[in-house]
Amino acid sequence: MIDYSKICESVVSAAKLAGGFIREQRQIFKNDSIEYKGTNDLVSYVDKGAEKIVVDKLQSLIADAGFITEEGTLTVNAKEFVWVVDPLDGTTNFIHGLPCFCVSIGLLRNGVAVLGVVYEINLDECFYGWENGGAWMNGNRISVSNTKKLSESLLATGFPYSNYDRMKPYMEVFNHCMYHTHGLRRLGSAAADLAYVACGRLDGFFEYGLSPWDVAGGVLLVKEAGGKVADFKRKNDFIFGREIVAGNSFIMEEFLDVVEEKFSKS
Ligand code: IPD
Ligand code: CA
Ligand code: CA
Repeated sequence: MIDYSKICESVVSAAKLAGGFIREQRQIFKNDSIEYKGTNDLVSYVDKGAEKIVVDKLQSLIADAGFITEEGTLTVNAKEFVWVVDPLDGTTNFIHGLPCFCVSIGLLRNGVAVLGVVYEINLDECFYGWENGGAWMNGNRISVSNTKKLSESLLATGFPYSNYDRMKPYMEVFNHCMYHTHGLRRLGSAAADLAYVACGRLDGFFEYGLSPWDVAGGVLLVKEAGGKVADFKRKNDFIFGREIVAGNSFIMEEFLDVVEEKFSKS
């Protein structure tokens, strides 16, 4: 029997170790270290170094677990347990020196998130949780907001920056949010967006084009904090399905009505 709470302690340590490395490197980072993986898809030795730190630590925690890692240190899927690692979520923020970047680590069991850690490096806030164990931040239990209506909510999104396939419905949801919410934020880190939904700073979040490592850690936090997560069709394909809506359970239906309606036409 796997003790998730014990494993979570080690995952938190791994995330903080990688976070410390990222914080140090930010002080001496030079823009000539930037590499391009694709349009507006930046990376550097910092992402790769942080990933190595995380993978080295996780490897001993669960025998025979697989790995899906953004920078490809290890890719072994199709195992009962799979670690899903984004060593630096918010690379563009990091590179531009804008605070808000995280280490995000999720553990999937047969494709379902059972443990999640999101470490927001600049604020030194570590969000973590495990299946049926609740969601926590720096030792304190967290929960989603109790905002009742979309019209009273503060939402976050990620703007499309290289995959513009679904811009039309995206802009329609965006437009709706401009008129019918307290506001829409773009933090630049999907892991932070989800962690902030989990602790109630945000009431909801939506984005398309995301990868499993962007969301695997955060979705567990939202669920354990009492929130809901879905894909744009109200189904559960939000880790590998490249589309996600998350929110507290009061606003979720109204939020999904808008997202589903606009995106069903695309
Ligand atoms: C990105 C961030 C961003 C989201 C992008 C992601 P990265 O991750 O989560 O908020 O809008 O889609 O790719 O590249 O900084 O790890
Ligand atoms: Ca990411
Ligand atoms: Ca990343």
